[in-house]
Order: sequence, then C-alpha cells, then structure tokens
Amino acid sequence: MNKKVIQSAQRLFMTGVSFITSYGPNGQNVMAAEWTMQISYEPMLIAVFIHEGSSTLENIRKTKQFGINVASEKQATLISIAGGYSRKEIDKLSINNSFQLLKSKKTKIPLIANCLINAECDLTMIKKIGDHIMVVGKVVSIRYNDTEKPLVYHRNRYFSIGPSIEPARDKIIINKNIFDSFLVPNKNKFILKCVGVLIRTKNKILILENTTQKSVLNIPYIQPKKGQNNKTALEKYLQSIKLDITLKNKPTLKRLIVKNKDGIQRINFVLFEGKLENKSGFFSWQTIKTDSFLKSLTR
Ligand SMILES: Cc1cc2nc3c(=O)[nH]c(=O)nc-3n(C[C@H](O)[C@H](O)[C@H](O)COP(=O)(O)O)c2cc1C
Repeated sequence: MNKKVIQSAQRLFMTGVSFITSYGPNGQNVMAAEWTMQISYEPMLIAVFIHEGSSTLENIRKTKQFGINVASEKQATLISIAGGYSRKEIDKLSINNSFQLLKSKKTKIPLIANCLINAECDLTMIKKIGDHIMVVGKVVSIRYNDTEKPLVYHRNRYFSIGPSIEPARDKIIINKNIFDSFLVPNKNKFILKCVGVLIRTKNKILILENTTQKSVLNIPYIQPKKGQNNKTALEKYLQSIKLDITLKNKPTLKRLIVKNKDGIQRINFVLFEGKLENKSGFFSWQTIKTDSFLKSLTR
C-alpha cells in the first residue's frame, strides 16, 4: 500500500476529542485523545487508545483509574494544550488561566469543567493493539451537560457540528382508512418496517382484498419480525394467502412520511417487483393514478 495514500486517508476520519485525566507517579495529568469511544452500554465501558510512552498511560498502569472528559466546542485551545505537551514537559493542569477542575465523586481523578461528559473509570482491560494500547474503563461515576456542543476533529482541525440532517423521505397525504391500517399495529414504534410486492400491468397494480379491514385496499405486504429476512418472510406470506408470485431479487426501498389530519407516521417499505404466475386468488387491479399512496409506492 502507498504510504502517502494511507496518511491522507487517515486524516479523513471524523471524531470527537476527549481529555483523558489521570493521577499517579507522574502527578496529576491530562492528555487529548480522539480515539475514545463507548464500547458497551451495560456495564458502561469506554475504550481509549493511547500511545506507548505517554505519561497518562504510565499513570493509568499504576493507579488503574482514569477520567474521560468529552470536550466541548469551546475547548479547542485546551485540547491543543493537552495534546501538544507531555506531563514530562509541563504540569498542564497547573497552567495559569487554563483548566478548571471539577471534584471527582468515586475516584481521585481530576476532572475537567465545562465538558459534555465527565466519567470516572476503573481500568478493566489493557491490551496492545497495533501501535497503540487499548485501555478499557468501566464507568463508576458519570455526569453530563447537554447544553454544551461537542468539539469535532477532522483533517487535523477543530470544528463545531453543523445543523442536523433529516434522511430523505417522500411526504404524502393519505386517507384515514389506510393511515389507520398502518397506525394501529404500530403504537409504540418509531418507524414502521414493511415488505411488499409490486405487480404491475400497464398503469394498474395488484391489490389484495384485505379480509380484516374491507375498506383498506393495498398491495400484498407484511410487517416482518425484527431480524427476519424480508424476502423469505414475504414469500411465506404470499404462499399462505395462495398467491403464486415470483419475486425479483433486488428490492427498492421507499422511505415515506404518511400524513393524515390525525398525525404522521414514518414507514419504510421494502418493495419487490413480482411476477404473477397464476391468475387465481383474492386480488384485483387498481389504477395507480387515482391513489396517492399507491402512486408514491410505484414512483
Ligand atoms: C486532537 C488530538 C487528538 C489526539 N488523540 C490521541 C489519541 O487518540 N491517542 C493518543 O495516544 N494520543 C493522542 N494525541 C496525542 C496526545 O494527546 C499527546 O501525545 C500528549 O502529549 C500525551 O500527553 P501525556 O504524555 O502527558 O500523557 C492527540 C493529540 C491531539 C492534539
């Protein structure tokens, strides 16, 4: 592999940055680490990847404790101090007019004020991985300040996060019957996941005559169980309602926001094109043009 390409690619990762705080044979200390992440919910574990020779690592090896302080966008200068000097050169936490400390609760670790998260950790694992040492800590005390915004690190520079981005969805207004048919089984779910089949002849589409809700006409579809293979589940369903349909391999994903005066509902529709092999069954053909919902599925 070309070394220059590797170095350029490495700069394109985007991370946050944390202050790793410690105490021990090198005294109190803080370093900057972009390679910091939560790796387990329960127990809450955080991993930091630290280079050999840092004063922080020597402290952690001895005391088996450290602090994770997730930097806010106002702390770029402090991060560049924490990352620009070693404790061997200077006691960074004692520099005038720089770090403000918080009192720790469960450990003797110094914590940095004005961060998003302050976590005190007990060391649970330490392992060499490539050219860094993975240090995993179990969180024994944590507090946060969600009024602060995180500091972003990318291309060796610091950024603030920009506005949030909404993944694209087609917005459509649908009639109450069909809206309710999606809403009822979906009371507590955020996004309803469906898989269905589109069978077209010219400008018409195959509609299943729904036996439970007579007024709702829709393509044959189901809500597969979490983790279930969508195509297999749909094929099983089609067999169970005695529709002899062959599904094509590659589906389309329709991401919809359906609206009605009663509310909105997010639906992800995985749609397989299908070929009807046998003309018997409880279905009819509906013109696509006349139905806003079908139009959105087939567009
Ligand atoms: C933005 C930034 C991110 C850094 N991320 C890491 C990191 O993830 N792991 C690491 O070992 N060093 C990282 N460093 C370098 C250390 O912070 C630096 O070597 C520091 O001087 C070590 O301090 P210490 O010897 O007092 O422990 C980073 C530096 C900066 C400026």
